[in-house]
Amino acid sequence: MTTNQNNWTKSSWKNFTALQQPNWPDQDGVDNVLANLSLLPPLVFAGEIRSLKEVLAKAVKGDAFLLQGGDCSENFSSVTAPNIRETLKILLQMAVVLTYAGGKPVVKVGRIAGQFAKPRSSDTETRDGVTLPSYRGDMVNEAEFAEKCRIPNPKFMLKGYNMAASTLNLLRAFTRGGFGSLQRVQAWNQEFVEHSPMGRSYDRIAKQIDQAIRFMGTIGIPPDTPQINQTQLFTSHEALLLQYEEALTRKDTITGDWYDCSAHMLWIGERTRQVDGAHVEFLRGVHNPIGIKIGPTYELDDIKGLIEVLNPENEAGRITLICRLGVKKVEKVLPPLLREMKHEGFNIVWSCDPMHANTYTATSGLKTRSFNDILSEITCFFESHWSEGTIPGGVHFEMTGNNVTECTGGARNINDEELANNYLTTCDPRLNAEQSLEVAFQIADMIRS
Ligand code: PEP
Ligand code: CO
Repeated sequence: MTTNQNNWTKSSWKNFTALQQPNWPDQDGVDNVLANLSLLPPLVFAGEIRSLKEVLAKAVKGDAFLLQGGDCSENFSSVTAPNIRETLKILLQMAVVLTYAGGKPVVKVGRIAGQFAKPRSSDTETRDGVTLPSYRGDMVNEAEFAEKCRIPNPKFMLKGYNMAASTLNLLRAFTRGGFGSLQRVQAWNQEFVEHSPMGRSYDRIAKQIDQAIRFMGTIGIPPDTPQINQTQLFTSHEALLLQYEEALTRKDTITGDWYDCSAHMLWIGERTRQVDGAHVEFLRGVHNPIGIKIGPTYELDDIKGLIEVLNPENEAGRITLICRLGVKKVEKVLPPLLREMKHEGFNIVWSCDPMHANTYTATSGLKTRSFNDILSEITCFFESHWSEGTIPGGVHFEMTGNNVTECTGGARNINDEELANNYLTTCDPRLNAEQSLEVAFQIADMIRS
């Protein structure tokens, strides 16, 4: 038993304060949906969750590297084959760049197939004197600023499950059915990136991989070996809507352990990680790998308390600390955290989220992040680990495979005025495909083995 099962049931979280839950207007509707969800098949399987934990255990020691990324908030209307394919493609491209440089396996985890619920800083939003409930993600209500759209609708939880299922279905087909084969590494390069400096650098690596595969073929290693022909993308989202997560929580018939089968990995957000809160209570009893977001105002004792509750046996691969400290603070607030966790001997995957504490409002009024801030936070994250003798184990991005203009800077130097050209996110600004690849090349320089 590696989690803390004392007095835990999949609904024991109800005895604790659950922040950031929707005010559903219709309790019968919620109960019906939850009853329905709890009978539906799991989205992922316990065995897969265990394999993710095993590779994350390697990232604790520096023998693997975690690449986690995807939308801030997935939208039902964006669940289309091209969008899913483009997200997968850019994650695969980044993984190739990082694997090639780092010489170790890259664990690919999407913010995908379930990232439909969002914590908000305020329960309400006011525009031009009109106040409505905040948009809390497509699994709760609609983004459009209209009264009827903002009323939480429990049927959206069911729709979220179905959207996650069809996304996973396509991802499984792509990753197992040849699309993710290293033989297609060149084909993952995207049209609008191909002719950029990033696209050309990528193409050089792709050609070398191609040659290596041909060489292996010559000496008798067939290209249809699973290591070449298949890949794996794990799924993750913020475990925010506890009713939904509970309904997808199942007992594994092989081990008798509980798993939240809505995704392989779940994380607790910066706003819901109270050690005596409902989110921590729920997650302590499921055996999935857990991410914990840590912002710049963390208290060391809170983080220690969280780890003790969530990982009492110090199992490697169980806890990923996702640090989102901000370019201005990271240098000051990361080292004490690294030191203390090292001193405690905790097994941790250290991941850097250079997005969430670097958000600002551009002159146009759009929420954005600057590519340089993102890069500087990552650089400082790596340098802090090197000087403390700890291991930078991964990165966490809000990104898309599409050609959006949501973050400023990067090779094309998107400026404030250009943000409106293709600004599509309903929540936080994402790196576009080219910026994502660029950031991967910069990290590659830091992890080159
Ligand atoms: C997120 O990852 O989209 C998010 C809301 O993060 P955080 O909890 O770190 O603010
Ligand atoms: Co976000």
